[in-house]
Amino acid sequence: MGYSPRVQDFLRMLAELAGRPERVSELLQEVSLTSADLHSFIFFREQFYTRNLLYQDSHWEVLTLCWQKGQQTPIHDHNGSQGWAYLIAGSLAETIYEVTNLPAPQDFCLRQTARALFHPREISYINDTMGVHCLANTAEEAAISLHIYSPLISSCRYYSLAPRETKIKTLCYYSAEGTVLEG
Ligand SMILES: [Fe+2]
Repeated sequence: MGYSPRVQDFLRMLAELAGRPERVSELLQEVSLTSADLHSFIFFREQFYTRNLLYQDSHWEVLTLCWQKGQQTPIHDHNGSQGWAYLIAGSLAETIYEVTNLPAPQDFCLRQTARALFHPREISYINDTMGVHCLANTAEEAAISLHIYSPLISSCRYYSLAPRETKIKTLCYYSAEGTVLEG
């Protein structure tokens, strides 16, 4: 349900890019999906940002993330997956950190290496060789972003500073294919 012709075209073209991740940014810019195209996959909640699944296959996972003011991810790695975030609406601040002192989990240090603000039609890209990161909606207005992961990311490591610890976290969807999931 809810797949507009433009979204269907985008997903078909993405599926055809299997094994060619270097073309993903170009495809995102070319297709330039909007919040109108993605309206079936946009859900906002007061308590948390939502992760909404559009599509997955053996190469790709595609989600919308919907962020109210002040909502943000923990600092996290990508568990070997590459990630692209294409801003649909609003803005997101990304902070990237280098992790040192692993593997002793309680002894890690985070050093901020980059910070950037992304606006509509801009793309953030991350993989584990670049560091760990967090995304935050630091603006007054809500934000919507379209995320592509290759391969699918089903869990990742969260880093917290108070208390200083890391945790493996299983990632969940708020909705899948336009339907809100139970629990
Ligand atoms: Fe991420």
